[in-house]
Amino acid sequence: MKIGIDKIGFYTPHLYVDMNELAVARDIDPGKFTVGIGQEKMAIAPITQDSVTLAANAALEILDEEDKDKIDFVIFGTETGVDSSKSAGVYVHELLGLNPQARTIEVKQACYGATAGIQMAKGHIALNPESKVLVLGSDIARYGLNTSGEATQGAGAVALLMSADPTIMALEDKSAYFTSDIMDFWRPVYSDKAFVDGKLSNEQYIAFFSKVWGQFKEKSGLGLKDFDAICYHLPYTKMGLKALRTIWDEGSDNDKERLEENYTFSAKYNRIVGNIYTGSLYLSVLSLLENKEDLKAGSRIGLFSYGSGAVGEFFTGILQPNYRDHLYVDNHTELFQSRTAVSVSEYEETYEDTLPMDGSTMELDIDNDPATICLAGITADQRQYVNKRNK
Ligand code: COA
Repeated sequence: MKIGIDKIGFYTPHLYVDMNELAVARDIDPGKFTVGIGQEKMAIAPITQDSVTLAANAALEILDEEDKDKIDFVIFGTETGVDSSKSAGVYVHELLGLNPQARTIEVKQACYGATAGIQMAKGHIALNPESKVLVLGSDIARYGLNTSGEATQGAGAVALLMSADPTIMALEDKSAYFTSDIMDFWRPVYSDKAFVDGKLSNEQYIAFFSKVWGQFKEKSGLGLKDFDAICYHLPYTKMGLKALRTIWDEGSDNDKERLEENYTFSAKYNRIVGNIYTGSLYLSVLSLLENKEDLKAGSRIGLFSYGSGAVGEFFTGILQPNYRDHLYVDNHTELFQSRTAVSVSEYEETYEDTLPMDGSTMELDIDNDPATICLAGITADQRQYVNKRNK
């Protein structure tokens, strides 16, 4: 039985800052951000969006009534959840009106969470072929103003509907994974900003890629020539390219040309969104499928997932016949075109805009946020979510 990705939804907030402007404000040569790191725009989440609303908005565009009825497992991958106890998925389950006969959990391992969700979903569907699983990867990447990580922030969510006989991508069986305790990136429970050893995280990303790629080749007998594209977790778009270039010499000139060209397509969306942590790899897959119009059914795509701390995994999927008919390209074109650029000082204000932590009530103005699902405020330490379609 084939199991894999049946639909892919995406959402990013309506605000962004231009990386050239951020560089100028920080007295840095813009080339460092646009070429050295490879980022053009960075999505900014207003206070009315959090990891719950981003995920719910991403899922909203893809689910029909039959999906809502058949989803019996919601797996929410995030490292910027809103509660240390209650799963962010339970809020999304309610906001989307899913069938109550479902399991719902939150999964955490830095940017690896959504991949863990996908692998769990695969096992669940193998045992329950009629079921559909909603896997969400949603985060707001925050490193702090004026830090070296600042240029690698972003915000957004990817929603993946997993099923048997998927319309977009069937996952293959072989997968290689690796865990090692490394302090390259972490966020203690008392901090709303990540702590990072940037150089170490770059090194470990490459080291983990090398380990799982080597293991994967041994397990599968496949090599570079068997891949039409490899998609990477993209904290910034230069990172995946650096990893790809470490295995360059294993391929022919044709392989290099094909993989480099497809890499460019797979990084297009990430370049104008920024790091969305656990959804980042799947935003890259979406970017490839929606922007590279002549990628044929039957193409094999490699996926490298890396979650600092650290866990890495390499696995593969095969594109299904007529997969392009099941993408939401127009929605995403419209989403990007309708965004508003903010100045660096507006971005800084938005960054500092946070909810009270003393139990007091705050009502938020959701009329300025074009998203269908918004955070409308907080009262008695409980976040108040609104689906404008139900108002
Ligand atoms: N024009 C073009 N390129 C330039 C440049 C310019 N004017 N100035 C610098 N660069 C290049 C550098 O040569 C470097 O390229 P290289 O990595 O290929 O050598 C790149 O821009 C980044 O410069 P660097 O000095 O390393 O940046 P930094 O010390 O500010 O750190 C990160 C960059 C990514 C480590 C930092 O943003 C960070 O910690 N991010 C969060 C963690 C992260 O994303 N980790 C990734 C793995 S999960």
